[in-house]
Amino acid sequence: MNILNIAVLSGDGIGPEIIEQAVNVLQSVQEKYSINFDFKFADIGGVAYKNHGHPLPQTTIDIAQNAQAILFGAVGDWKYDNLERHLRPEQAILGLRKHFELFANFRPAKLYSELAHTSTLKPEIVENLDILIIRELNGDVYFGQPRGMRIAPDGLFAGSEEGFDTMRYSKPEVERIAHIAFQAAQKRNKKLCSVDKANVLETSQLWRNVMIEISSQYPDVELSHMYVDNAAMQLVKAPKAFDVIVTGNLFGDILSDQASMLCGSIGMLASASINKNGFGLYEPSHGSAPDIAGKNIANPLATILSAAMMLRFSFGLPHIADDIEQAIQKTLEQGLRTSDIYSKLTNEKLVGTQEIGQRVIENLYNL
Ligand code: IPM
Ligand code: MG
Repeated sequence: MNILNIAVLSGDGIGPEIIEQAVNVLQSVQEKYSINFDFKFADIGGVAYKNHGHPLPQTTIDIAQNAQAILFGAVGDWKYDNLERHLRPEQAILGLRKHFELFANFRPAKLYSELAHTSTLKPEIVENLDILIIRELNGDVYFGQPRGMRIAPDGLFAGSEEGFDTMRYSKPEVERIAHIAFQAAQKRNKKLCSVDKANVLETSQLWRNVMIEISSQYPDVELSHMYVDNAAMQLVKAPKAFDVIVTGNLFGDILSDQASMLCGSIGMLASASINKNGFGLYEPSHGSAPDIAGKNIANPLATILSAAMMLRFSFGLPHIADDIEQAIQKTLEQGLRTSDIYSKLTNEKLVGTQEIGQRVIENLYNL
């Protein structure tokens, strides 16, 4: 039987405990559907720095290279906040995105109806919300050169210390994310909103021009444009007006965190980062939350949903991904809640990381 190789990079903080639940779910998938996974575990982030002197050691890159997909937990811990930038845990995820050219980041924001009241917005604003943010992940000010610290050579404050970064996008970079976004919109409600800051930035002007140019290849998709400040406002005013949003690396970072709150908790948001060959890294949208690590209170559902995305995108097993999502739906219907989505309603039961993961598995078996 075909073996599917998965590199499992748990990372720091709550990473190991949420990954444990996702791996448990995948192990039950092996039994139920007669699929063979081969899990290879490797250090990443702060723990990798501690054990190997670097947040993204070559041994970890090699393991990821030999796998067909990466399941990623989270990185970062305040213990490492004072390290030089290139040794900080966050460099591990940025390094993986760059190394594997994972330029297309899918961040779905879907609200489970059971959680409508846990959103900070009124239930009627977010009920049935189902939007997809596609964030370009390899370019923009995140990676643009030159960047650095220096003594300002000119300007009003010439001679003072300054930090500088470069926001840049090339046409092919925008074209490839545009195609991904139009094709994703074709599979959904055929509405694509491109978010930029074309009233101020040259990069955004190019971004907008390219989106318009590529749109002629997708006449069935309705393309609109929105400035990022307005998009931030519309996301809380009328989020359901969106279907697919496509945007650059920095704006996508911010808007996807914002969108997560529409869904009650960032603990519910999965993500996939894909390259042109379909190789992908799957990770929850949230961070490593070191303050709650090791307490069995973190919500593992975003990680389990990310594993489902892996089955859908990298392994062509959409029926199993659907089943996992249904098992999660059932778990929420049964009232199980981790503390981030618990609101003390009478039908709700506050449970821990392991208990909710276990229930997802039971529900998956009993579908
Ligand atoms: C994210 C995170 C990362 C980012 C950090 C950890 C570097 O916030 O995945 O959204 O800024 O992209
Ligand atoms: Mg972020």
